[in-house]
Amino acid sequence: MSMTQVAAAGTQKTPSPLLEVRDLSRTFGQGGHAIHAVDKVNFAIEPGEIVAVVGESGSGKTTLGRLLLRLLDSTGGEILYHGQNVTRLHAGGGLKRYWRGVQAVFQDPFAAFNQFYSIRRVLTKSLNVLEKHLPEKEKLERISAALREVGLDPSEVLEKWPHQLSGGQIQRVMIARALVVNPELLVADEPTSMLDASLRVTVLNLMTDLRKQHNMGIVFITHDLGQAYYISDRVLVMYHGQIVEQGPVEQVLLNPQHEYTKRLMADVPLLHGRESILQKATDWQE
Ligand SMILES: Nc1ncnc2c1ncn2[C@@H]1O[C@H](COP(=O)(O)OP(=O)(O)OP(=O)(O)O)[C@@H](O)[C@H]1O
Ligand SMILES: [Mg+2]
Repeated sequence: MSMTQVAAAGTQKTPSPLLEVRDLSRTFGQGGHAIHAVDKVNFAIEPGEIVAVVGESGSGKTTLGRLLLRLLDSTGGEILYHGQNVTRLHAGGGLKRYWRGVQAVFQDPFAAFNQFYSIRRVLTKSLNVLEKHLPEKEKLERISAALREVGLDPSEVLEKWPHQLSGGQIQRVMIARALVVNPELLVADEPTSMLDASLRVTVLNLMTDLRKQHNMGIVFITHDLGQAYYISDRVLVMYHGQIVEQGPVEQVLLNPQHEYTKRLMADVPLLHGRESILQKATDWQE
């Protein structure tokens, strides 16, 4: 290789992932009582990728999600967004810009929304955090577009209060609330766990549509391996705050290597072996 070739190879940059975490950690408490809720985890998410985070209760999934959303400070490691270190951004600084790219979908929309605010006000408020300067007319357009995107008719829901909507509708509003700022990544923590089975598949399909339409990446946190199988490209398996196994969904769930993942699969009655997972995935499609 000539010197110029070496130099060219040296400057040739592989594009940074959408999000990358290195040794990311969060400890609660101190000394002997410290809980290592998230313990040196490493992974990357590419644009448009759906990554499921699975693991039993208390394994650290929600803590990881809140760290990724920068709603909780880490105690170690770093988070890179398009190669830029966002680990220490604070509310007055670039954190808002980060939230333009990375948005949350929570488990319980009724708890997340002010019950005395109309849907219009809930969504306007969310938009105002990042886009206060926009003219009111444009705000309404953005909000209406987001509602239509999640399959709701703006004229039907805008002036309603949260309690006037069904569980499925309000979860869609929650997703619309994230969409108003056109994020690149959604971090969804058990977004379907309050919904019954028939609505669950609608929300899962809505999320895959968002990926298709906008190349949106999604971190999908769930304790349900069937849903992880249905929706994700890649799976991270958490156990006591650590990622014990990660890889393509087929590989991790259908051919688990780690003892914990094997046990997790065995513990789920519907998921004994490949056929039943596939069965469950098809059940949802119907
Ligand atoms: N604010 C906190 N203070 C102290 N400990 C916490 C806090 N938040 C979480 N933990 C602890 O961190 C660990 C991981 O909790 P986390 O909520 O992240 O788990 P999870 O995988 O989301 O569980 P679940 O499936 O029940 O939602 C648990 O031991 C939990 O008790
Ligand atoms: Mg949780």
